[in-house]
Amino acid sequence: MPQTITLPHTELIPEILQKLPGWYRSQSDLRELPWRKSPTPYHTWLSEIMLQQTRASAVIPYYERFLAALPDIASLAACDDDALMKLWQGLGYYSRARNLKKAATIICQEHNGKIPQDFKALLALPGIGRYTASAIGSIAFGQPWPAVDGNVLRVISRALASTADIALPATKNSMEQALLPHYPQGETAGDLNQAFMDLGATICLPKGTPHCPCCPLEKICLAHAEGLEQELPRKSSPQKRRRENRTILLLMQGDTVALHKRPPKGLLAGLWEFPNIEGKLDKTAVNEWLQTQGLSVKHIQKLPTAKHVFSHIEWHLSGWRIELTPPSDHLLQENTLPFTWVTPAELTEKYSLPSAFHYYLSEIY
Ligand code: ADE
Repeated sequence: MPQTITLPHTELIPEILQKLPGWYRSQSDLRELPWRKSPTPYHTWLSEIMLQQTRASAVIPYYERFLAALPDIASLAACDDDALMKLWQGLGYYSRARNLKKAATIICQEHNGKIPQDFKALLALPGIGRYTASAIGSIAFGQPWPAVDGNVLRVISRALASTADIALPATKNSMEQALLPHYPQGETAGDLNQAFMDLGATICLPKGTPHCPCCPLEKICLAHAEGLEQELPRKSSPQKRRRENRTILLLMQGDTVALHKRPPKGLLAGLWEFPNIEGKLDKTAVNEWLQTQGLSVKHIQKLPTAKHVFSHIEWHLSGWRIELTPPSDHLLQENTLPFTWVTPAELTEKYSLPSAFHYYLSEIY
């Protein structure tokens, strides 16, 4: 049984929920978001997955390009993996795209090609958690599910002057339980969830001064009444990121550069990368590594350092650009190196290189 905590002033919830859909309808034209024009189940699902870790304004071009290439669930299920990664390139968190395809396959095989309306069946699909199932259920099917994310936690915590720690699953669970009995049916359910998203993105801001004078909840918000809007919500700090040094190698052979396919599991699973080694390697160590691979160096040049931040790891990058002499015959015959050699044009057109490696992209041209 998930834990719960007691939220204060929950008697205000019906009035809060009652004010938001009308406000949403009066202002939603201000945010031209293409998935709101025709919220079919597929459009809603795709947009919600893209929006999980990415800002709405950044998602728009990816969303439009994705739908132009894969206009329906059947085309997504049949899509070639590399083409899918290419469509996702730049959005990050590539497991989202892999899960989309896995879920599309299941939908075709087990649900007659249609996204299921049943909440539990939605939750059973790869990549769909409670928030996304609730967003799809409410926006596409008009079901009364509160989609509780950071926006809802912030808006409701402030409105109720709740000091509960929003980083705790128990707080999220309690919020969902408190909202659920008051949620409306039909189009209003989706409008209400999207009202929270818009309010959180434009008015009830997480950092800096919230725009309380423009807020539809200004008159009933207890945090505002008590001048606590910047103290609330309370959020304990997340775990620290692990720091990792990595040395990137741009191995140049004529007009081609070496790419390596990452293992099928773990960070950036199955994506292409420039060969890289754990640690911060100096010139001698790089030369030694190249020797162990049977590669001989024509020219080696140090590249600038860079930093790339994932949700749980920080990569501190250093890099070397290495021009190789043509491989000796035995290496060519044995083809022992786990690399694929591509021209810069091929790299841009066909291979999806995660943003972590983009700092070094300009060095290969
Ligand atoms: N963030 C998550 N879902 C969203 C939506 N439907 N509209 C705007 N921002 C969102």
